[in-house]
Amino acid sequence: MDPNRDQPEIELKEGVPISLKFGDLYFSKEGGWEESKYVFLEGNRIPESLAKGLKSQYTIGELGFGTGLNFFVTLAFWSNLPNPPGLHFYSLEGFPLPREILQSLNLSFPGKPLWNENLLGGYENAYERWEKNPLERIWKLVIPHPHSPKNFTLEVLFGDVSDCLDHFPSIDFWYLDGFSPKKNPRMWSDETLSKIKTHSHVGTRLATFTAAGFIRRNLEGLGFMIEKQKGFGKKREMLTGVFL
Ligand SMILES: C[S@@+](CC[C@H](N)C(=O)[O-])C[C@H]1O[C@@H](n2cnc3c(N)ncnc32)[C@H](O)[C@@H]1O
Repeated sequence: MDPNRDQPEIELKEGVPISLKFGDLYFSKEGGWEESKYVFLEGNRIPESLAKGLKSQYTIGELGFGTGLNFFVTLAFWSNLPNPPGLHFYSLEGFPLPREILQSLNLSFPGKPLWNENLLGGYENAYERWEKNPLERIWKLVIPHPHSPKNFTLEVLFGDVSDCLDHFPSIDFWYLDGFSPKKNPRMWSDETLSKIKTHSHVGTRLATFTAAGFIRRNLEGLGFMIEKQKGFGKKREMLTGVFL
């Protein structure tokens, strides 16, 4: 590993990785797996949209791959659908986590399909290649469905959000999960949000754990209709939206 790389500086507390750099948690202490399902899958109405079967392929765009938890939750949901559409999950990550932290997810959520040796090795190889050559910035995986001819494709782009978003295609569902706006304004800057708009189409949905008023107003200003929803567990509110 390149010793000059900007290390993520992570501490594990009761099974939850905490970023010392950003002063924030990667997922909630209270039922991270369930929270990811509630906020991102259900907040984006993915189960209903996929059941309608209007498209043969859908795209998800995530800001912040982190531990991969949202990816695993989405993959588990899709793998259990009897007749799924194809799903292409695009994510981005500027500070890839080391294997010990990724592996800790398996202890935090026992019995869930998470990091195995193949995936860990593949992810590590991909970000080490990127560290040596910034042009080699993609980790791509194609996972076949257990009972249908459709695939789940994961593409993680390494680099800063501003560069990575330019390489995203048009997205059907956004997972806005880049730490809290106060702690990480770059993931919520006007530039980032306007790139989200550029890669949206009429009907694109978004969901995020934050309920910050300025994020709601800025997204509304870009043409999203935003609704406040009840947050997960003890959290009061979160935001969902659709591009009009
Ligand atoms: C809350 S965590 C994401 C949690 C993740 N979705 C999961 O399932 O574990 C936010 C992520 O955004 C990444 N990040 C923060 N600022 C970034 C930036 N400017 N560009 C790219 N990635 C960034 C962090 O390294 C971190 O992995």
